[in-house]
Amino acid sequence: MASFASNNYGLVLLFVLYSLAMLGMQVANGTKDAPTLFIFGDSTFDVGTNNFLMSKSKANFPYNGIDFYHSFPTGRFSNGFNTADQIARQFGYQQSPPPFLTLERNRYIFQKSILQGVNFASGGSGILRDTGSLEWGEVIFLGNQVEQFSSVRDNLTEILGPVKAATFVSKALFLISVGSNDFFDFARNESGSIHLGAEEYLAVVQLTYFSHIKKLYELGARKFGIVSIAPIGCCPAVSSLNGGKCVKALNDFAVAFHSTTRDLLQRLSYELEGFQFSLGNSFVMTTTILKSPSSFGFKETRSACCGSGYLNGQVGCIKAQNASLCAKRKEFLFWDWFHPTEIASELAAKTLFGGGIEFVSPINFSQLAYS
Ligand SMILES: *[C@@H]1O[C@H](CO)[C@@H](O)[C@H](O)[C@H]1NC(C)=O
Ligand SMILES: *[C@@H]1O[C@H](CO)[C@@H](O)[C@H](O)[C@H]1NC(C)=O
Ligand SMILES: *[C@@H]1O[C@H](CO)[C@@H](O)[C@H](O)[C@H]1NC(C)=O
Ligand SMILES: *[C@@H]1O[C@H](CO)[C@@H](O)[C@H](O)[C@H]1NC(C)=O
Repeated sequence: MASFASNNYGLVLLFVLYSLAMLGMQVANGTKDAPTLFIFGDSTFDVGTNNFLMSKSKANFPYNGIDFYHSFPTGRFSNGFNTADQIARQFGYQQSPPPFLTLERNRYIFQKSILQGVNFASGGSGILRDTGSLEWGEVIFLGNQVEQFSSVRDNLTEILGPVKAATFVSKALFLISVGSNDFFDFARNESGSIHLGAEEYLAVVQLTYFSHIKKLYELGARKFGIVSIAPIGCCPAVSSLNGGKCVKALNDFAVAFHSTTRDLLQRLSYELEGFQFSLGNSFVMTTTILKSPSSFGFKETRSACCGSGYLNGQVGCIKAQNASLCAKRKEFLFWDWFHPTEIASELAAKTLFGGGIEFVSPINFSQLAYS
C-alpha cells in the first residue's frame, strides 16, 4: 500500500513537472512586439505532439532532454531546445509555444494559450498524407495540422471577433519545417507513390505542399517562414548504412526540394495578395558547417552524440537500450541518428532570424516578422 502511494506521488510530481515544462510558454512572454508563432512540420519542430500518439516516432524518454529544464524528456528530439524553440527564443520567447494536443486537453488555459501561439508539428510526418505511417505508425501529416489550425482559427474568431481575429492571424508568423520524411519514405520504397520516378514524386510533393500553404493563406495567414530540408543523406541514420559516407541521392532531393519550394513560394506571392515569405536554405546552412566544422565550434559532424551502433546512427537515443551518450554535446552537430543538437539548432535559428540571402531569402525571419 505504502509503495503504491509513493509511486502515485511520484507520478503526480512527474505530471506537475511535465505540465510546467510543456506550458513554460505561459510563464515566459516574448518581447513586447514579438510575433505570435504558429508552428507546423515534423520532428525538427515537434515539442511533444507525438507523446499523445500511437507512434514509434517519440522522444519522451532519456537521454532526450538531458540539457532541458530538470533534464526532462518533453518529446523534443534534442538534448535541449530544438529548432522551433530556438527560433522562438530569437524572438524573445523562452521556448516554442506548446503542442496543440496539450492545449486541447487543458480547457482552462486553452483560450488564453492560443493567443500566445500553438505548435502543431508531429515527428515522422510529411507533406503527403501517408508519409511516415509505415515506418512510424500514427503521425499527424501537414494537412491535418492545417485542419487543427483551422479549428484554432474558429476559436480565435470566437474570442476576438472576426475583424480582430483576422488582423491577429495576418500578423502572426507561420513557421513550417517539413519534407525530409517524404523523401526518406521514397528512398525506403515506403511511400504510397512507389510507382513514381524521383522527378514526378518531387512534383507531387510540391503540388501537395502548395495546397497546404494556400489553405493556411485562406485561413488568414500572411507571413510564412519556411525551412527547407537539410542534407538528409548525411545524417548518421543514413551514412551509417553507407560506410560513413553521405548518400548523394538523398542530398540531391534536398537541393531539388529547396529550388522547387522557392518556385512555389514565389508563385504564391505573385498570385495571393499580401503573401510574404522567407525561405531558409538548410542544405546550404548545413553544408557550410560540414565544410569547416571548427569555425563553428564543432569537432564531430559525422556520428551522433547519442545512439548505438556504427556512428551511433543505427538506433535512436534510448537510454533504456544502453545508448551511448557523448560528454561534450556542444561539439556535436548531430544529437541522435536524425536530429541536430541544441547548439546546432541555435546556430540554425540565428541564421534564419538574421542571416544573409545565401542562407535565407528573399528576406530573413526578423525582416518577415517586423515588416
Ligand atoms: C474551438 O473550436 C472548435 C471547432 O470549431 C470547437 O469544437 C471547440 O469546442 C472550440 N474550443 C474552445 C475551447 O472554444
Ligand atoms: C518497391 O515496392 C514495390 C511494392 O511493394 C515492389 O514491387 C518493388 O519491387 C519495390 N522496389 C524496390 C526498388 O525495392
Ligand atoms: C543493457 O546493459 C545491461 C547491463 O550491461 C544488460 O543487462 C542489458 O541486457 C542491456 N540492455 C540492452 C537492451 O541491451
Ligand atoms: C537580416 O536580419 C538582420 C537583423 O534583423 C538585418 O539587420 C539584416 O539586414 C538582414 N540581413 C540581410 C542580408 O538581409
